[in-house]
Amino acid sequence: MNLTHIEHLGIAVKSIEESLPYYEQVLGLKCYSVEEVADQKVKTAFFKIGQTKIELLEPTSEESTIAKFIEKRGEGIHHIAFATDGVADALAEVESKGVRLIDKAPRKGAEGLNIAFLHPKSTGGVLTELCEDPNK
Ligand code: CO
Repeated sequence: MNLTHIEHLGIAVKSIEESLPYYEQVLGLKCYSVEEVADQKVKTAFFKIGQTKIELLEPTSEESTIAKFIEKRGEGIHHIAFATDGVADALAEVESKGVRLIDKAPRKGAEGLNIAFLHPKSTGGVLTELCEDPNK
């Protein structure tokens, strides 16, 4: 498997609006995109630092996995996403090595990326996302 860099860190927040001042005014990052991902019941806000993005995730419904995460563990780091040049191949490889998958096949995530999640029970408790930019 060829992981190229950390594509983004996903951070669960109760409110993007209330979180923005920290990222913009304290850290000096610039939010370049806010996007709702309806099928994940989240609103996302993106910042870029080097090759890596920070993705704030705000639940848009109590049914959202982000809402459940915040309820259980509070706001904070939710997942790490690695960039790869082939999510489907990477999934097949990690599954063959005994890793439990949340997504058996890639699906569409924010920013048009193909994404898939690995189960945190198989990754030392770190929810792990693999993603691929189909336009690269
Ligand atoms: Co993500």
